[in-house]
Amino acid sequence: MDSKYILGISELDSQHEEIETIFNALQGAVEDKERWHNLFESLCEKLKFHFYAEESIMRIFAYPESQEHRKSHLEVLKSLESQKDINLPSADIEKLRDQPMRLFLEQILSQDMRFAAFIKRNKERLGIQ
Ligand SMILES: [Fe+2]
Ligand SMILES: [Fe+2]
Repeated sequence: MDSKYILGISELDSQHEEIETIFNALQGAVEDKERWHNLFESLCEKLKFHFYAEESIMRIFAYPESQEHRKSHLEVLKSLESQKDINLPSADIEKLRDQPMRLFLEQILSQDMRFAAFIKRNKERLGIQ
């Protein structure tokens, strides 16, 4: 994963890394419907787990921008769900294919970075290592 996406919170970073790997595998599996489907299911699961993990930390730290952040998570999931119908004409799939990963990466830069900075500030304040 490009270093500009690294938050410095190792658990979240490794989840991002794993999700990016599956996104890439999914893009390479368009010719193989079964493999594509399995990867798709696993990606949905990993994303939901990851977003849930972040949102749990937000609650613990009473993160003031959690609403907006949650909304951006839902957009990624919605975009991914829209690909589930693999009976779409291939031209449409082509158009849609890059969108979920693009949104996911943008979401790291726009939301996760702010969140990570907030967590670091508050960990210091609360004296958590
Ligand atoms: Fe994230
Ligand atoms: Fe996030």
